[in-house]
Amino acid sequence: MATIAMERRRFGPTKAQVPVIGQGTWLIDEGNRKAAIAALRDGLDLGMTHIDTAEMYGDAERIVAEAIVGRRDEVFLVSKVLPDNASRRGTVTACERSLARLRTDRLDCYLLHWRGSSPLEDTFAAFDQLRRDGKIVSWGVSNFDVADLDDAYAVAGDDQIACNQVLYHLRERAIEHAVLPWCERHGVAVVGYAPFGHGEWPSPRTPGGRVLKEIADAHGATPRQVALHFLVRQPPLFTIPKASNPVHAAENAGAGALHLSEAEIARIDRAFPRGPRPRSLPMI
Ligand SMILES: NC(=O)c1ccc[n+]([C@@H]2O[C@H](COP(=O)([O-])OP(=O)(O)OC[C@H]3O[C@@H](n4cnc5c(N)ncnc54)[C@H](OP(=O)(O)O)[C@@H]3O)[C@@H](O)[C@H]2O)c1
Repeated sequence: MATIAMERRRFGPTKAQVPVIGQGTWLIDEGNRKAAIAALRDGLDLGMTHIDTAEMYGDAERIVAEAIVGRRDEVFLVSKVLPDNASRRGTVTACERSLARLRTDRLDCYLLHWRGSSPLEDTFAAFDQLRRDGKIVSWGVSNFDVADLDDAYAVAGDDQIACNQVLYHLRERAIEHAVLPWCERHGVAVVGYAPFGHGEWPSPRTPGGRVLKEIADAHGATPRQVALHFLVRQPPLFTIPKASNPVHAAENAGAGALHLSEAEIARIDRAFPRGPRPRSLPMI
């Protein structure tokens, strides 16, 4: 398989250089298991070494375990604790269960899936303990709006929150109003999830779809690769498309080496406008 010159950037305050295009795994357990494992392995071969999973994703962690067998050190492995488990003790045991399903001794980053009723002090104290014990290398949050990020920062302080994983695709750019600037100011990586709108991809017959196609044709690329590039067009952005089909994984990895001009980025920006700031951060 040809290697792709995948762009990497520093992941928040961590020492890790992480590829801008990674791999999601939600619902990867719903189709053909062998194809899903092949897609993840092909993705790794092509440089998409950031793999995102969660205790919430059914059998996905076990599928990831099979995909990364023998190559754990290549992978930047991320999983998430559910808010209902995110007490001081519950976070530690949830992480240990994820490690067992993933058949590994450590996660590169462990996230609170969304904010629930457990005090952040308790969840973060558990994260610190897991880090001291070598079971996680770094930790972060997901679906945190600016007020949540302020609270998290007040508890954790500088250089502790590795990332905020949030909904981000061409037709859902709400994070650009405040969450993205907050993360940029505080050195927190922003991992955009559902980059293809969780299956709601713009039809090529729409004006936006036509813009993507024209730009793609000019680069010998595909509209999805153009979209992925737009979503990681500047630090501290990363994205994690999910593909259980190896052909899709290869297409997605190809976006990691794409270069678009400022004029092309501006065209996409006009075709998929950011829209007004919503009252609360959208999530799936
Ligand atoms: N933190 C959170 O709360 C949260 C929430 C949602 C998602 N996530 C994470 O983000 C990841 C990505 O989001 P998502 O899975 O919801 O949606 P997504 O990545 O936007 O879309 C996935 C869908 O796109 C298809 N696809 C992928 N690449 C394609 C290609 N090159 N051509 C055509 N179709 C393609 C997939 O098909 P195939 O599977 O058939 O290849 C699948 O049906 C998740 O898997 C999960 O890891 C996190």
